[in-house]
Amino acid sequence: MTKNLQQLLDEGVDGRHVLVRSDLNVPLDDDGNITDAGRIDASLPTLKALLDAGAKVIVMAHLGRPKGEVNPKFSLAPVAEALSERLGQFVPLAADVSGEDAHERANGLTEGEILLLENVRFDPRETSKDEAERAAFADELAALAADDGAFVSDGFGVVHRAQASVYDVAKALPAYAGYLVDKEVATLNSVKNDPAHPYVVVLGGSKVSDKLGVIEALAEKADQIIIGGGMCYTFLAAQGHDVQNSLLQEDMVGTCKDLIERFGEKLLLPVDVAAGAEFAKDTEKRIVGVDAIPEGWMGLDIGPETAKRYAEALAASKTVFWNGPMGVFEFPNFADGTKAVAEAMIAATKDNGSFTVVGGGDSAASVRTLGLDEDGFSHISTGGGASLELIEGKDLPGVSVLN
Ligand code: 3PG
Repeated sequence: MTKNLQQLLDEGVDGRHVLVRSDLNVPLDDDGNITDAGRIDASLPTLKALLDAGAKVIVMAHLGRPKGEVNPKFSLAPVAEALSERLGQFVPLAADVSGEDAHERANGLTEGEILLLENVRFDPRETSKDEAERAAFADELAALAADDGAFVSDGFGVVHRAQASVYDVAKALPAYAGYLVDKEVATLNSVKNDPAHPYVVVLGGSKVSDKLGVIEALAEKADQIIIGGGMCYTFLAAQGHDVQNSLLQEDMVGTCKDLIERFGEKLLLPVDVAAGAEFAKDTEKRIVGVDAIPEGWMGLDIGPETAKRYAEALAASKTVFWNGPMGVFEFPNFADGTKAVAEAMIAATKDNGSFTVVGGGDSAASVRTLGLDEDGFSHISTGGGASLELIEGKDLPGVSVLN
């Protein structure tokens, strides 16, 4: 049985060090500004509850993939600043992960104070495949929490990774699920185990190979699987269309043909696309049928007729799980498809009582970037890969280790 944060609070944390793993892996622009703080906001309830209860909170998090090397580009400094603003108290950033500075600062914490460690992925042992190396790093992290410390796992977006600060540290200290992990797991499990029908799954993103597992796993359970984003062009190629310079995973064309044959009408594919002359924000745009992408052009979004059909399927849904944008929504000219799908989900939630889940990553970011109403969905997950793997039925090491 997983212990949760409430149980830890009931045991009492006043004056105790509590090591918290949060997922604060937020997108930054070229100047290092946070472009979507969704994950930081989602980490606040657990942190606030611990601080209010008098814990000495030490937060572990990663940013990007610095590959085990200290690299200022991946420093958590902008995150420390954003956390300070949101918590209304200063969040110092340790100069290292589990070194001298982290120890000194952790020892110096008083009740209700918080410390953020530098990017845990600056240490190569965090992501090592060698269990002994990871365990040694986890012991160093656990040592920051002194003798009566506890570990709270709250970084839902990273629970699919068997990494030291997610998985191994849970073996080194009494471990509890934070509010966010608890809520995400319960909500996504309800969709996985008992979806109301019609159950519509919307998949986008660039690679078919990333979504293959989920298509296979959901093909029986879902009533419809809507395909968009960069991955749809491999399906269109499998249907025999010339996708010109669109994103194409050639080695997956055969697999897509097989999926189309096996699942037939259950798979909804685009009938038209918004094509661009090149991959650029202000490139010329044309709406064309899937069999008429101009020579040398590329599909950058689903077209309006496709968006209409997808919206109709969503209007009839009782459950929706969406992972992956329909097009390059970061280019305003090619954001219409993603917007149409998101708006159709919001309408289905309101008008049809559909239970609508946005599965993290780019889809969650697109909701906020496009200025849509976050409260219009039943749940917006903070985990891209993690929510997909849960829905697919895979084991999440960072969750099962808490049992
Ligand atoms: C994410 O962005 O999905 C999580 O923070 C996990 O990051 P990762 O894919 O680099 O492990």
